[in-house]
Amino acid sequence: MRAVDIIEKKKKNNPLTKEEIDFMVQGYTQGQIPDYQMAAFLMTIYFNGMNYDEIANMTESFVNSGDSVDLSRIHGVKVDKHSTGGVGDKISIIVIPLVALCGVPVAKMSGRGLGHTGGTIDKLESIEGFRVELSPEEFIENVNTYKMAIVGQTANLTPADKKIYALRDVTATIDSIPLIASSIMSKKIASGADAIVLDVKVGSGAFMKNIDEARELAKTMVSIGKNLNRNTIAIITNMDQPLGHEVGNSNEVKEAIKVLSGKGAKDETEVALTIASYMCLLGGAFDDFEQAYKELETKINSGLALEKLKELILIQGGNPEVVDNPDLLPKAKNTFCVYSEVDGYVNKIDAELIGISAMLLGAGRKTKEDSINYGAGISLKKKIGDYVRKGEVLCELHTDFDNVEEATKKINDAYTIKDELPEPKPYVYEVIQ
Ligand code: URA
Repeated sequence: MRAVDIIEKKKKNNPLTKEEIDFMVQGYTQGQIPDYQMAAFLMTIYFNGMNYDEIANMTESFVNSGDSVDLSRIHGVKVDKHSTGGVGDKISIIVIPLVALCGVPVAKMSGRGLGHTGGTIDKLESIEGFRVELSPEEFIENVNTYKMAIVGQTANLTPADKKIYALRDVTATIDSIPLIASSIMSKKIASGADAIVLDVKVGSGAFMKNIDEARELAKTMVSIGKNLNRNTIAIITNMDQPLGHEVGNSNEVKEAIKVLSGKGAKDETEVALTIASYMCLLGGAFDDFEQAYKELETKINSGLALEKLKELILIQGGNPEVVDNPDLLPKAKNTFCVYSEVDGYVNKIDAELIGISAMLLGAGRKTKEDSINYGAGISLKKKIGDYVRKGEVLCELHTDFDNVEEATKKINDAYTIKDELPEPKPYVYEVIQ
């Protein structure tokens, strides 16, 4: 087989065989195929797409390029969740205790934040003492005993995806649905999940800017799941503005605590309960969505959900007192306000700009090597549909820096304020299964 023939075949829009895809993926990972041939190959996929069989084969090839996590010693159906990336997305922190309370094992592997999006691992590390590096034995034991554990990704999972993602980043081939779908699903499958709930974000802060693209990505990932025998459900959710009111690491932990105590913002409460309900359905705890949703609300209202979060923090070495006293979480030295320059209704909040602003305040990383300030972040005082008067506070900025000029400008650019009230949009658009 020769790489050039495979590129030629895909250029002519002919479907590739499993062997041809494997030849390209493994050859590139092992250094036998150069960057320029893989770059050309990726561009043919960008323009011509792939059918569902090709995408499943690509996913499997990514999985086979590295290690896979063996969760077979965990009893029950291991259900994972994944978000395609948003701003203020603290849903994982909310759903882990909720799903575990229903007896479904949650063996969660999560990532760190980069650029305008945050990462669950960074958020949890803002809790004093919280350990995200557990040995495989401790991880499995915690899931078997408490039905939950979370770790940062350490094993050599999907090295092909890592290498190809880096090349996509510099060859303008990130925004290709077959490539995004196989990249995401390969990591979930290599992490050992039996079943997967995907939170596909759509809107200004998401990869997918419109519902048609989001639906196509969702359908593609569900088809990969079917093809590779992982029960998969995708939920398309709104990312036209940050979720909830808080962005930043300790800020988001505080807000997750609020949701678990029944006092959370409507948007993130509904998204979290929807995702947790589908995780419970896939895990076999309930037969019916409404029943699961109701039961999860009961777990919140009874205080059990908050107790389970305390347990998660305790078993991972963190200080559980933060749940009753969130003021123990790290705080930034300074708070600055951004004021509205006009009267009117908030019509849009560009979530990506809010995320970039939070990064500039110290809450996120520009590059993987940057360190972060756990207390830095943004509190949104006005969200879409709210009325604001000139001079009223739109956002509070929390930071150790003294100069917030650039971050303030991004916040002002992020808000669109008009005389008319915008059409309300749902928090959850569609469920694809
Ligand atoms: N997230 C991933 O893991 N991969 C992509 O290609 C895009 C988003």
